[in-house]
Amino acid sequence: MLPRRLVDFSKVSLKTELFGLPFETPIFLCPVASHRMYDPEGELAVARAAKARQTEILLSTNTSTAIEDVVRERGKPVMYQLYAAPRWEMTEKMVKRVEDAGTSIMAWTVDTLGGRNTETYTRYRRMDKRPCEACHGKEGPARLERRVMYKGIDLSKMATPDPPHTWTTIERLKKLSKMKLLIKGITTPEDALLAREHGADGVIISNHGGRAEASGRGTIEALKDIVDAVGPAFPVLIDGGVRRGTDVFKALALGARAVGIGRPYLWGLASFGQAGVDRVLELLNAELRLAMRQFGTPEIGRITRKAVTWR
Ligand SMILES: Cc1cc2nc3c(=O)[nH]c(=O)nc-3n(C[C@H](O)[C@H](O)[C@H](O)COP(=O)(O)O)c2cc1C
Repeated sequence: MLPRRLVDFSKVSLKTELFGLPFETPIFLCPVASHRMYDPEGELAVARAAKARQTEILLSTNTSTAIEDVVRERGKPVMYQLYAAPRWEMTEKMVKRVEDAGTSIMAWTVDTLGGRNTETYTRYRRMDKRPCEACHGKEGPARLERRVMYKGIDLSKMATPDPPHTWTTIERLKKLSKMKLLIKGITTPEDALLAREHGADGVIISNHGGRAEASGRGTIEALKDIVDAVGPAFPVLIDGGVRRGTDVFKALALGARAVGIGRPYLWGLASFGQAGVDRVLELLNAELRLAMRQFGTPEIGRITRKAVTWR
C-alpha cells in the first residue's frame, strides 16, 4: 500500500452503490448458514446490528430465520444467496418468495456444487459425544423439507431431479425474476467472462472462505485479473480472509465494488450476540476510514490501483 500525505480528509465517506442501490459502506455480511447455532437470536441479532451500522446483508438459503423476519429487523430488504434446490420447482418457489420479500439482488453460490472436503468437521464430530437432541430438540437435525426457506414446499410432489447445473442454469435463473443475479464462487477470469456471457449481472469472487477447493489460493490473488477481464462496467465483489480495514481497502483498490466478511461477524455473534456483530462492524469500518485517510482517498470512488504496488 502506498500512503499519500497532506490530502484534505476532513470528510471521509464510505458511501457507494451497487445496481443503483445505495450502500452506506462497501463492507457487507456474507451468507453464512444457521446463525442460531451461534446465538439464540441468530439472524435477528445480526439484522439489528446491521441496521445500526447501516450494513447490507446477503442472507443464506440455509438461514435459521425466515427472510421476512430478517427484513423486518433490518428495516429494509436484504440481498439473498441462493443454493439451487434439488428440484427446480423448489428453486422457483424460493426465488418468488424472496422477490416478494423485496430482494432485488440475488447471488447463486456455485463453488460447492462439486462437493468439498469436510475432514475437520468429520474429525471433530467423532469427538462430540452429545446427543443430537441436546442442540436440535426432539426432531433432530433439520431435514431439507424442514429448513426455514423450504417450509411449505412438498418435495414428494416434485419427482424430477434437476439436470446437472451448468452455465445455462444462469439463463434459467434469470427468467425466474427481475432480480439482479450475481454468481458467487468465481475465481478465474474465464469463469467471470462465461458468467457475463450467460447473462449474470456480476460475480462474487469467493472460495467459500477457503472451504471449497481448499487449494490455499487466496481470493485477492484472483481479483486483479478478473477485473481486467470483465472491465469496470461488470460488478465484481469479493470475500475471503478479510480481517482488517486495510484488507477491504486493498480489495477496493484492485477493483472490487464491495467486500464481504463471513467468519469475523460470526466470531462477534458467538461471543457477544448482537453487540459482538455491532463491534466487529464498528472496528472494520473505523479501520477502513483510517486507511482512506492514510492513503489520501476520502471517498470510495477515489480508491484506485495507484494506492497499491500490486497493479
Ligand atoms: C460457517 C460458514 C458457513 C457458510 N455458509 C454459507 C452459505 O450458507 N452460503 C454461502 O454461499 N456461503 C457460505 N459460507 C461462505 C461465506 O459466504 C463466505 O464466502 C466466506 O465465509 C468468506 O470468508 P471469511 O469467512 O474468511 O470472511 C459459509 C462460511 C462459513 C465459515
